[in-house]
Amino acid sequence: MENKSINVPRHIAIVMDGNGRWAKKRFLPRTFGHQRGVESVRNTIRACNDLDVEYLTLFAFSSENWKRPKDEVNALMRLFMKALESEAASLAKNNIQMKFIGDLNAFPAELVAKIRQVEALTDHGSSLKIRIAANYGGKWDIMQAAIKLSSALQQGKIVANKVSEDDLASYLDTADVPDPDLFIRTGGEQRISNFLLWQIAYAELYFTDTLWPDFDKVALIQAVESFSRRSRRFGKTDEQVLSESNA
Ligand code: IPE
Ligand code: IPE
Ligand code: MG
Repeated sequence: MENKSINVPRHIAIVMDGNGRWAKKRFLPRTFGHQRGVESVRNTIRACNDLDVEYLTLFAFSSENWKRPKDEVNALMRLFMKALESEAASLAKNNIQMKFIGDLNAFPAELVAKIRQVEALTDHGSSLKIRIAANYGGKWDIMQAAIKLSSALQQGKIVANKVSEDDLASYLDTADVPDPDLFIRTGGEQRISNFLLWQIAYAELYFTDTLWPDFDKVALIQAVESFSRRSRRFGKTDEQVLSESNA
């Protein structure tokens, strides 16, 4: 265990951006950047586990990424398959849970089968809990939750004038994880790109120019230190927050 003196976020969500630019800078095909990106994923998982982060959500493929050239999309699918095959055993051995969020129906059947296999193998993981967002979109998530909520209303399982925010959240793909405390985006862009929308309502946002393949434990600790220095008020005054923390 490390860094007991800093306030470690319980849940970190990351938009892993900049693989293509990392490769381009080196006159390499974009796919090389994605390959190196997998190494950053591996290092980040290990670093989060060392820091005692409880939940890590990684944006691997957005609902908009289908618009990329077919070759790149196919290469990403092959890379996901390869990474799952090579990492599954070590995740399970390290007591790490891995589940997927997003609309998996659009993926090739053998990839979905592999995903389900990894989920089953790591189901009992009780240290770090990872969520991989694949064919995920924040708007899609809210919409599919709203559809499920409306069918629960129609079936009389919930009463319309008693519907709460928690009711809607219980149908989101992230229902079994707390909202992220820290949102990180690498690669220099300062946007959400339709990642978790509902869930980051009160997350601390951290943007870094570091390209995802260059993101390492030192970079992660910098983000966590930035988080640690922030005052999270959730609408209250600083004085209220201070007196509560002294109570
Ligand atoms: C993020 O890196 C990886 C995926 C979206 C799969 P990019 O591929 O978007 O890299 P840049 O933004 O082009 O550098
Ligand atoms: C966001 O990155 C999606 C992932 C990291 C998987 P993009 O590179 O697709 O985002 P935009 O298109 O620049 O907003
Ligand atoms: Mg990008």
